[in-house]
Amino acid sequence: MEQAAKRAEELRREINAHNHRYYVLDDSVISDAEYDRLLQELRGIETEYPELLTPDSPTQRVGGAPAEGFTQVQHSAPMLSLGNAFDREDLENWLNRTKALVDDAEFDLVCELKIDGLAVNLIYENGVFVQGATRGDGTVGEDITQNLRTIKTIPLSLLAGAPDRLEVRGEVYLPIPQFRRLNEERAATGEPLYANPRNTGAGSVRQLNPKVTASRNMEIWVYALGGTADAEVPESVEGHWEALEWLKSIGFRINPNNRRCRTIEEVIEFYDHWVEARHNLHYEADGVVVKVSSLALQNALGVVGREPRWAIAYKFPAEQAVTRLLEIGLNVGRTGSLNPYAVLEPVVVGGTTVQHASLHNEEDIHRKDIRVGDWVTIERAGDVIPHVLGPVLARRTGAEKQFYMPSHCPECGTGVVKPEDEAMHRCPNTSCPAQFFELLKHFVSKGATDIDGLGEQWCRILIDQGLVTDLAGLYTLQKDALLQLDRMGDKLATRILTNIESSKQKPLPRLLFALGIIHVGTEIADLLTQTYNSIDEIAAATEEELAEISGIGPKIATSIAAYFQVEANKSVIEKLRAAGVNMKQELRPTNVDGRPLSGKTFVVTGTLSGFSRSEAESQIKNLGGKVTSSVTKNTDYVVVGESAGSKLTTAERLGTTILDEDAFARLLENPTAEAGS
Ligand code: IVH
Repeated sequence: MEQAAKRAEELRREINAHNHRYYVLDDSVISDAEYDRLLQELRGIETEYPELLTPDSPTQRVGGAPAEGFTQVQHSAPMLSLGNAFDREDLENWLNRTKALVDDAEFDLVCELKIDGLAVNLIYENGVFVQGATRGDGTVGEDITQNLRTIKTIPLSLLAGAPDRLEVRGEVYLPIPQFRRLNEERAATGEPLYANPRNTGAGSVRQLNPKVTASRNMEIWVYALGGTADAEVPESVEGHWEALEWLKSIGFRINPNNRRCRTIEEVIEFYDHWVEARHNLHYEADGVVVKVSSLALQNALGVVGREPRWAIAYKFPAEQAVTRLLEIGLNVGRTGSLNPYAVLEPVVVGGTTVQHASLHNEEDIHRKDIRVGDWVTIERAGDVIPHVLGPVLARRTGAEKQFYMPSHCPECGTGVVKPEDEAMHRCPNTSCPAQFFELLKHFVSKGATDIDGLGEQWCRILIDQGLVTDLAGLYTLQKDALLQLDRMGDKLATRILTNIESSKQKPLPRLLFALGIIHVGTEIADLLTQTYNSIDEIAAATEEELAEISGIGPKIATSIAAYFQVEANKSVIEKLRAAGVNMKQELRPTNVDGRPLSGKTFVVTGTLSGFSRSEAESQIKNLGGKVTSSVTKNTDYVVVGESAGSKLTTAERLGTTILDEDAFARLLENPTAEAGS
């Protein structure tokens, strides 16, 4: 035990140091495999000796059950906002005012990119991350510690030199490539697209389930000391610049683009550079923050309202342009949605030429009063495809035309439907070639079955030649038939067939995602397979059962249940099964770690008198059990308190063992005898 404790401590220190090199310094010195080995060893020790588990262990990024809500926290010092400068004159005025206020003293300035994300306050005690909160109204924010712990560039424990207590502030953001990936997935599953990385990022850290936050791969730039009085900052830290250097030395991720400036010319040079260069960053920046470096001068200058006198945000110009809307085109999406897009007279916005922009739906086009032939304002955010903000009414001639959705699908001619509660018009024909083309592209894509070699053009050709008429058709493709196709060589045909063969063994969540069930992206697919172990179990689940899974709402549950009711879908699944496609995952392991409730799954419902819900759950987990939120065939025990509802009914129907509070207390006292494992 003593030895294990020592080794665990050693491993934690070593892994933390590697994390810091990898995530903060971007300078890793070990291979992924070596790193995984260290982490595995630590996990092994912690499973064997659960008492050695510490909250700052690198194995504990994602832990715990979804939260019911966020608690409020009072910031020890207000989180400020910034005054804005929109041009050089505003900036000069600010600097002159500031100089006058400090009797023309000389001072350094620090220029930083203004990250367009979400401000957070992080608290460390004895070098360990203990609390993270949103800005909220500046005085009171929300405790989102569990979600922030999943962000790998936020250190869970600091390096040597950290004080007893420290608060820092920074901006958490969703990297643009992550944002695009999310939207590609949403497009593939027929969800409305997210508008921009900022809002999506803000939504991602406010998820009740930390697993969802973890899957988003967010990052942080730390830009300031937070809090006040009790922060023990070394004496050498005289200015903001030195503060950032010190923060970096104890493990925080500080933006390498920060620059110390002496003159306004240097500030303007920094700004001019980043007006253009920001397009190459993997995050969005909406301006430059200019700060007086000296902490003493910052103090002397003080704050007016919520804005410090010692800093200003010099905003980048908005990336907008005005151009002609030539026509409105339509794409038929994978779920049959008719997606309108603007065809524009080419125009340069923020360095790139734009010819297409997205328009959401007919309702939105009418609400904004956008007409074909209008001059329109378009805007580009972090997304690839810009969107149309609205018409320039002053330039209207009267020759512009209203847009209406066609009554028939432009691809297959089927009558278009528009459900009352939806904004989109849809083609209801599931064998519409446009829909099947999108589905096939999605099925073979990297995040789905990953059939490399079968690109967009080949999908189109296979459909046009009648070689593939449903998803299962891929698995009956013959080499001879492929070789008949124009420009298909032996090498490519072999590669495609080999990849089709290996796609049969993809894990269950991948297949679920690949099927293209409306609203089932990778996150929902993962949630489903945490509760169910096969496609058949999911297909057999009722809408109500599905909706009990935390993270799956009624709309998603309805869509999943509906998918498995459609005859064509059932038949495709049977054909995929017959072709040998994997539709299961390993059953949950039983008693793997020797703990008495290991391998047992519990659901706690109703109000218990002797425990809070979370106490009950953590006792179960300490004994090795798993706690889930919905009762399924895989649930071993349902612990029932006062006024239990539908979960009790489900348990009775499934014949699950039901424990009242007394029986549960007995089981906790003597788990080995009671659980009989
Ligand atoms: S300093 C005076 N530095 O901008 C202290 N803020 O409008 C204020 N922001 O809520 C913060 N990048 O979320 C500072 N490098 C940076 C920043 C930055 C982004 C955000 C921050 C703040 C808002 C102020």
